[in-house]
Amino acid sequence: MRYALISDIHANLPALQAVLRDIASREGVGATYHLGDLVGYAPWPDEVVEMLIAFAIPGVAGNYDSTVATDYKHCGCQYEDPHQEQLSHVSYAWTRAHVSARTKGFLRGLPFRIDLRANGGHVAGPTVILVHGNQALNTVYVHQDRPDSFLAKMGSALGARAGDVVCFGHTHVPWHRQVEGVHYVNTGSVGRPKDGDWRASYVLLEITGGDVAAEIVRVEYDVEAAAQAILTSDLPDELADYLRQGGAAPSDGARITSGGRTRR
Ligand SMILES: [Fe+2]
Repeated sequence: MRYALISDIHANLPALQAVLRDIASREGVGATYHLGDLVGYAPWPDEVVEMLIAFAIPGVAGNYDSTVATDYKHCGCQYEDPHQEQLSHVSYAWTRAHVSARTKGFLRGLPFRIDLRANGGHVAGPTVILVHGNQALNTVYVHQDRPDSFLAKMGSALGARAGDVVCFGHTHVPWHRQVEGVHYVNTGSVGRPKDGDWRASYVLLEITGGDVAAEIVRVEYDVEAAAQAILTSDLPDELADYLRQGGAAPSDGARITSGGRTRR
């Protein structure tokens, strides 16, 4: 069984379209799942949700999804500095103001966790567990430098045993490592990578009997179309450079500009 796992699309429609095209071109992908954060930071939240509905792609709730859905006071994101925090607040306010009632209802209905059994539930074999952050919250960042003890605790809390696979996103940086026989797979981000590579990231997960193989795939997309759409919207202009660079754009002090206007 081969799964495609896509996470952190963040309202970036051109990136999602390119990734779905890439998945369709691959042999033997039986199912695609998303790992949350469908909206925020780019101007196509409704379009991304409609595309996932049209393609019947199930998935779990990211922090951005559950905070928008419940009108929470902020998006549950972590900020590198005060300016990034300010940008994040503007993006969150924009997203809340622009999502349709249908999108909001869809986000509210997303489950926190999904379990898959590639070999069927009638025989033993690897369980694939999908969450956005960790076992307790979709706001916890599981970075690559987390110690083995942190991952072992996470796997245990999720009920994972040796041979199982725990998949998540949220950090926007892809990685894969095994601890005590459990695979931990971060899919990276489709629509807002943070590892210096602007290309969309997703994972092809192959389960063959008890064997697990995770391939991190990078896909080029029309990043300029996404950047231009941000620049012509009321989202902060800096979010365009962030996409172009695959990570933090240079800050211009305390000012945020959008659509040629400056906010303070
Ligand atoms: Fe995210």
